[in-house]
Amino acid sequence: MNLMRRDFLLSGSLAAAAIGSANGPVLAQNAVPAEAGMQQPPPSTAPYEGSKANQKIRIINLIEIEAEAQKVIPTGGFGYISSGSGANWTRRENMAAFERIRIDPQPLGGVAKVDLSVEILGSKLSMPIFVPPMGSHGLAHVTKEAGTAKAAHAVGTLMLTSTQANLSMEEIAANNPGPKWFQHYVQADRGIVRELLQRAKAAGYTAIAPTIDNLFAYPREENIRNEFRPPLSLGKGNAPRSISDPVAANAALNNRKRDLNWDDLEFIKKESGLPVIVKGVLSPKVAAMAVKRGMDAVYISNHGGRSFDGVQATVSALPRIAEAVDGAVPIILDGGIRRGTDVFKALALGATIVGCGRPVLYGLALGGTLGAQSVLEYLRDNFALVMRLAGTASVRDISAEYLVPGAEV
Ligand code: FNR
Repeated sequence: MNLMRRDFLLSGSLAAAAIGSANGPVLAQNAVPAEAGMQQPPPSTAPYEGSKANQKIRIINLIEIEAEAQKVIPTGGFGYISSGSGANWTRRENMAAFERIRIDPQPLGGVAKVDLSVEILGSKLSMPIFVPPMGSHGLAHVTKEAGTAKAAHAVGTLMLTSTQANLSMEEIAANNPGPKWFQHYVQADRGIVRELLQRAKAAGYTAIAPTIDNLFAYPREENIRNEFRPPLSLGKGNAPRSISDPVAANAALNNRKRDLNWDDLEFIKKESGLPVIVKGVLSPKVAAMAVKRGMDAVYISNHGGRSFDGVQATVSALPRIAEAVDGAVPIILDGGIRRGTDVFKALALGATIVGCGRPVLYGLALGGTLGAQSVLEYLRDNFALVMRLAGTASVRDISAEYLVPGAEV
């Protein structure tokens, strides 16, 4: 039985196990326990079209645009973008944890103008906010990642391109002449890894971010409910070019190394010659090891609560990780960043830059490049206001001194 057919049967049985059937619930033993979480759902051949909107959007806050976006994104695509895994606890907790931190403003410092610019791993950004890696922007909008890349460039920040993008990393780079990094789901086959790294380097990506927190797929119940599978028609631009058959190339891209380890990350660093950002860190021990093994940045992330439900919020992990890293490498964080106050709190606790994920795709759906740009501008302006109110003239001034001590995050 070939891989695709076996995967299809397996994912079908998992979906059936979750949904049940007309004859009563399907027993869980229909799934193969030893392979739980290892199957990639095969792509769907059904047609799919994202939104075609092209406009600036009015934003009151980044929570409410989710409901607006739901009206313009097809059901399966919206479920894929918005949902977390399991009970969605980590997804909610990412935001709730920010609310437990209190800002301690220090006015009368004569601060009226604020400088938001930041430099990280050689990339100069207009603000400490960037677009984290997200696969399949085509689910939101017909311009796919080109629309988002243009928006990131328009506001002077970077977009971390996902391995799972619909467009190729080269097409995305062509739409964003500014700073860019490449997120890497590491393949089992080192030949494919090499090919992707060489392409990324040739296309002008200046850092590689292997993701370590999604090696096994914890069920996302909304996708099972919607019987959602990634639409083949949207494309898989980073599928290896050395394999001519598109189905086989897609399978090779998705054939991830499940026993990923530090030697693999060192291989990526050596092979690419680029800085390596370890994405998906939640533990101070792992962060300290990243420094020890010569990695160039620690990226605190729980995949927006889409990977392992039940793990802590990213900002809860930040203080102990900052302590473990002790300034040796920059810290990047994403998960639940929705307001300028969230950006400020994360920076005060030791992050250098933060990613805002889902709202950017909602902006893309509601207005294409201009909509995604509206989201980034909203967050930038809201953050600038928070800096003024707190009394910090530049992002370097933001420290734990501007937080009320003793908060349990
Ligand atoms: C993601 N994320 C993700 N991460 C990654 O390393 N590679 C990927 O391909 C994807 N794909 C992806 C798709 C979609 C639709 C979403 C929403 C997220 C996780 C992403 O990088 C980031 O960690 C979260 O989105 C941050 O949380 P918020 O801001 O969405 O709450």
